[in-house]
Amino acid sequence: MKAGLHPLTAVLSRPGFAATVGSVVLPSWSHGRWRGVGAALALVLLAVAASRPPVGPMALAAQPAPQSTAAFSGAAAEQQVQALAGQIGSRPAGSNSYDRAVEYAVDQLRQWGYQPTVQTFPLQVYDDRGSQVEVRSDPSGAQAIAADTLTYSIAGQVEAPLVTAGLGQPADFAGADVRDKIALIKRGELRFAEKVANAAAAGALGVIVYNDSAGRVQGSLTGPSAVPAATISGESGQQLMDQLASGTLLARLAVDAATEQRSGSNVVADLPGQRPDAGSVVFGAHLDSVPAGPGANDNGSGSAVVLELAHELSMRSASERPVTLRFALFGAEELGLYGSRYFVQNLPDAERHAILADINLDMVGVGQAWRFGGSEDLVQSALGAANDLGQRALPLQGGSLAGASDHASFLEAGIPAVFIYRVEDPNYHTAGDVPTLVDPDALTQAGTIALKLLDGLASQ
Ligand code: BES
Ligand code: ZN
Repeated sequence: MKAGLHPLTAVLSRPGFAATVGSVVLPSWSHGRWRGVGAALALVLLAVAASRPPVGPMALAAQPAPQSTAAFSGAAAEQQVQALAGQIGSRPAGSNSYDRAVEYAVDQLRQWGYQPTVQTFPLQVYDDRGSQVEVRSDPSGAQAIAADTLTYSIAGQVEAPLVTAGLGQPADFAGADVRDKIALIKRGELRFAEKVANAAAAGALGVIVYNDSAGRVQGSLTGPSAVPAATISGESGQQLMDQLASGTLLARLAVDAATEQRSGSNVVADLPGQRPDAGSVVFGAHLDSVPAGPGANDNGSGSAVVLELAHELSMRSASERPVTLRFALFGAEELGLYGSRYFVQNLPDAERHAILADINLDMVGVGQAWRFGGSEDLVQSALGAANDLGQRALPLQGGSLAGASDHASFLEAGIPAVFIYRVEDPNYHTAGDVPTLVDPDALTQAGTIALKLLDGLASQ
């Protein structure tokens, strides 16, 4: 499930959405739509504005004594989750609703005196409009079989005899003549992309991969394929295998898809520190969600905590802020960490070197225990902070989630980073990831842990 940056697992098991920057092709979803929630959002904006008067940087010095780290408001963060996931809803990269979330975050930050910037980056999105498979053993009766596009498959329609080709390993094609035919291949052992490439190299006109267990499977290639390719269920595959054992089949495979150029965006707001040489700390979270659901925990929760950290810290007196603070809401994380990678790669050298830590909050509102991954010192500090709060917390060791969120973009660039999340969310990447399941106490803890980390870094 959580494949992180392990492409094999990802390609073998993940649903059909992904994306990439520049020349690589990205998979997608059917277009997200902003469905007239402007009025509701305006109410949220008004409510938040009324309860929390704008504080401009010019006014910061006049603020009363600094807040203690215990002042982080999980209730305020809960309202942000409601605005992002409840009012705006699902926020897939490249969609109108993602842009609404960006506008919302920018408005919030401005009300607290920030001058946020929206950093855009190119995104190519793969738009899957569906695949069809039909087989027939004689000219009369065609049988339709439910099929799913293999993400990045080229579009096209082919009609040809269906032949089996085992698991699609090179040796499987020695015993099967797939030239000018459609290859029927079993899932497993190889990545989908390799199966399809091997079949195309052997002359196949199209590829149908059947699941190696019950039910359908959604998978992804790693880039555009040479021939159309789709998956079918294990049951359908078995049925076709049985039919082919006793006769011939003619198959038709149609893949309807297109690659579109869109743009992704990050929202970044800075609060300059009192000592220019003291470095900076980035509080980061991804603002996008998967198309499947509203993304309240993944990652309305982390986005909300970053917003409320910006709010909270805007009220600290300048003397309480030696280091520069950067609040970053990243786009297109769910498609492969694109926003954070773009941010890191486009940092001027001096800014990149100045970053003491990226504190990445992703899925911090559901679950029973804290888990921290990333740079050893930061993980130890976070464990200490959770311990101070009397909370259960464990380090993430190497595991499959190590590259699963935006902290990985910072680590890749040699910047210290810590990944803060909670285990385990049963509604991960589903329509069930709704605001009511986000625990405000967990948000309070997340904000408090982040502030404790900041205080530790600032006092070094
Ligand atoms: N929020 C998840 C990562 C995650 C999963 C955090 C479970 C905590 C618990 C993130 O948005 C995600 O889904 N990442 C992908 C990888 C990414 C590179 C596309 C994943 O984990 O598969
Ligand atoms: Zn996430």
